[in-house]
Formats: sequence, structure tokens, C-alpha cells
Amino acid sequence: MATSVRSFSKINLGLAIGPPRPDGFHELVTLYQTLEAHDVVTVEANPSEQNRVLLTSNDARVPTDSRNTVWKMLDQAMKRLLPEFSAEVSVHIEKGLPVQGGLGAGSANAVAALIGLERELRRQFSGAERLEIAAAVGSDVPLFLIGGTVLGLGRGEEVYPMPDLEPIHCVVALPSIGVSTPLAFQEWDLTEGKQLTAEANFDRLKVLGRVLSAGLSGAFSTEEGRPEDPLLALVRTGIENDFEKVVFRQYPFLGEIKRILEPGAVYAALSGSGSAVFGLYQTEEAARKAEEALAGQGTACLRTKTLSRREYWQTMVETR
Ligand code: C5P
Repeated sequence: MATSVRSFSKINLGLAIGPPRPDGFHELVTLYQTLEAHDVVTVEANPSEQNRVLLTSNDARVPTDSRNTVWKMLDQAMKRLLPEFSAEVSVHIEKGLPVQGGLGAGSANAVAALIGLERELRRQFSGAERLEIAAAVGSDVPLFLIGGTVLGLGRGEEVYPMPDLEPIHCVVALPSIGVSTPLAFQEWDLTEGKQLTAEANFDRLKVLGRVLSAGLSGAFSTEEGRPEDPLLALVRTGIENDFEKVVFRQYPFLGEIKRILEPGAVYAALSGSGSAVFGLYQTEEAARKAEEALAGQGTACLRTKTLSRREYWQTMVETR
């Protein structure tokens, strides 16, 4: 029997880019938040003489070979079971999400496939093993092993569960622009990063790290002395996404999209290196208005909600 797993998406609520490391990656601090919008990954595994992965998708743009993160994840996972065990694994990726940069859909697909594989084989990797395999597949894969509100350090792969933010309406604009993440990092190094000493660059990361942990722990209070809503505390202290500085310069259209999302929003920003741009709204009405404004301008979008860690795990596997 096959196992179907919801493969949720994410946004970055804030992201600070640090200096490049000797391994070519950049040190960063980011706050990930999972969203309800998802794909469905269906896994069927049967013992076989040799490991084999067969991928299919309803979306022709999804690669079905070793370029796919699902393939990389299953290859790594199944190699760990050798020589005692080998299997033929068929995976179907039913895309509900657009193939869009910034939402982590490919990374989430990989984690959903791992969870489906574990269910199918009735074997579980340890938490440490899961995180290690996920980090080898990509920097924003491990966050999907935590879900909810997640702090990302290192190159983004070092993940820590944070107290969940209250679920909130989210409108994600999906401009038909492809932003290359490696090039966006390079552009950062050549412009913004160049103006900072490595030490100053590291200090900025520490500042965001502190703001995130203090804001999320409820350490901030309102003028009347009541605990401040953690998201509002983060917005007030000025969370932002460093990629906006380079990506909006290169694609001014994405900056315009952010301005369309801003009216009525608690917070609007580029997600990751884009091109997805999102707005968060307290009411469904405000979210609908943002959706209409984007439609009027001719940009595709999706309306969803943020997803707490508990809901993430409770609704991930479809029980039939
Ligand atoms: O890990 P992932 O495959 O998502 O990274 C894609 C590319 O983005 C890397 O090869 C690297 O060029 C860049 N990157 C980076 N610093 C990070 C994450 C990614 O420079 N923290």
C-alpha cells in the first residue's frame, strides 16, 4: 500500500546574510515559517535486489531524475540501509504548489519522501540521521523535519524549533521571474557584503539571532506592560530579508509587488531569494483585498495560512 504525505511550503520571515565561508556557503540567520499550501508526495516501496528510485509528477517541469531533491534524499537514505536491505521505491509528486523559488517546495518534497519511505519500510532513521541526510540534500531541507516556526543558523541547515507564532493569513505573490540563489548570494558579496568587515557582518547575524529569540520568547511587552504579540514584536524590531537589497535592485518589479502586498499587512517581504513575495494579514478580508490587488495588477498568487508545528505533523500523513 502506498503512503501519501503532504509536503508543505515555507516562507522566510527574516533573513540576514553573513560572510562567505571557506566551503563557499554563506553563514546566515533566518526564521522559517511553514505554510498550509502543499504538494502531495506518494511513496510506494517494495523490497528488491537493488535500490531503485522511480519518479513521476503531474507537472512536466519537475525533473524525474537524479536532479530532483526527492531522488537525492532517497538515494542517501537507502544507501544507509545497505547491505541488509534494498528496495524499489516509486514516488509520485502531485504538484499543488507552483514551481516557484522561495517557497522551499522541492526541499519539502524531499522530506515528505523520506517520511513516506520510513512508513513504507516500517523503519525509522534516528532524528540525527534524518537531519544529516536532509542537510546533505540542501540548506533549506532540514527545516521541514521540524515544521512550524523554525530558527535556521549555519548555512540555514542548523535548525531549532521556536515557539509557534499564532496562525495568520498569508498571501504569496508568484511572479513569473526566476531568481538564481547562488547569483543572489554572489551579488550580495560584491555589493552589500563588500562594505562590511567580516566581524561587522558576523555581528549583524548575532543581532538578528538575539532579536528573533527575544521576540519569539515573549520577552517584549507593549507600552501598557502586556506581553506583545511575538510577530508584532519581530516587525517592530525590524526583521527584514537581506536578499531584498540585491534582488529588488535587480528586479524592481518584485519591489513593486511587495508594495502592493503592504496595505493592510502586518508584514510583507521577499521569501528566501525569491521570486515569491508574501504578505501576512490578521483578517481574511485584508488577505482577500491583497489578492484582488495582485489580480488587478496581473500577478498570480495563492492565499493560505501559516501552519503551527502541531498541525504540521498532525496533518502531514493522509490516513486512508
Ligand atoms: O544548499 P542549497 O543547495 O540550497 O544551496 C544552493 C546554493 O546557494 C549553494 O550552492 C550556494 O551557492 C548558495 N548558498 C550559499 N549560502 C547558503 C545557502 C546557499 O551561498 N547559506
